[in-house]
Amino acid sequence: MDIAIIGAGVIGLATAWRAAARGAAVTLIDPAPASGASAVAAGMLTPVSELAYGEEPLLRLGLASRDRYGAFAAELEELTGLPTGYRADGILEVAFDADDLAHLDEMRRFQESLGVPAEALSGRECRRLEPMLAPGVRGGLLAPRDGAIDPRRLAPALLAAAERHGARLVREHAAAVIVADDAARGIRLRDGTEVRADRVLLAAGSWSGGIGGLPPGIVPPIRPVKGQVIRLRTAVPFLRRCTRGVVKGSPVYLVPRADGEVVVGATQEEMGFDTRVTAGGLWELLRDARELLPGITELEFVEVSAGLRPGSPDNAPVMGPTGLPGLVLGTGHFRNGILLTPISADILTEALLEGTVPEAGRPFTPDRLEDAA
Ligand code: GLY
Repeated sequence: MDIAIIGAGVIGLATAWRAAARGAAVTLIDPAPASGASAVAAGMLTPVSELAYGEEPLLRLGLASRDRYGAFAAELEELTGLPTGYRADGILEVAFDADDLAHLDEMRRFQESLGVPAEALSGRECRRLEPMLAPGVRGGLLAPRDGAIDPRRLAPALLAAAERHGARLVREHAAAVIVADDAARGIRLRDGTEVRADRVLLAAGSWSGGIGGLPPGIVPPIRPVKGQVIRLRTAVPFLRRCTRGVVKGSPVYLVPRADGEVVVGATQEEMGFDTRVTAGGLWELLRDARELLPGITELEFVEVSAGLRPGSPDNAPVMGPTGLPGLVLGTGHFRNGILLTPISADILTEALLEGTVPEAGRPFTPDRLEDAA
């Protein structure tokens, strides 16, 4: 089977790997593979921390994906010889003041009601785990099975794995899906070249709605949600594990890596396709991070960047076959694209090769959004 994939972010890349490994002839189309949101993301693997009430199906998907990550990363590293920065040493969520603590406590009760308990810690216990935390930190929650991966290592490793199985990368913009006899038949590139395929996967993140050639209503309105992120570096031990905090109601997280990088994120802004880094965004991140970890001001500044999370109308991923035969959607992963990569690749590979959606993916098929499109 010939499969054409629009978008070489982590979702498109992982699906290319899995589908090519099962014998499909895969063509990946992206002018700048492994860039976009995949290159800005911090890479926390936490199914619970960013959950809103009513998102239980997403929690189940996130838990299942997190639990696959160890084997997924090990297989990828073995196949390619490339590191992914995977770690599963827990995520600590801390509260700065009494209101933030009340918020965390509410979250703990919500998690417990969903059957996902987290360990409640006093301020002192938090500082025992993370000695650099501010003396005023009031308490926290430890999610011991959560962790992180380095998206800037994950994406190139996925590309190498896909290529190892024969996937072909075309560095060009996809202009339109070719539709003939009421079915998707391939992709027309911006330079006019045609890539013929039996199945097309649209995995273009925030840009998924901009592809031409499709009948109205096939792609739901995917909106970009901006996130600004700061990268720092330390030569001395600073933070042992991912640490999130709520500081006077405002969320901030820090993701340390073995090589000394510390990623601080992220703003959440509905600004359209705007990837400018702003003084206000950076100030808020650094202000809140410093409240939790005063020593952060000593770290070396490396980089600031802004990415666009793809948000669907209900903020959940949109995965599976569409009303246009041959076209499969793999988009709308919003704040969870890195976390959901392993399970999305499995769901989308089945959708492409067999035309069915496994149990775990059924709450996320495109037909749920037909009215919104
Ligand atoms: N999942 C991290 C973020 O969306 O900022």
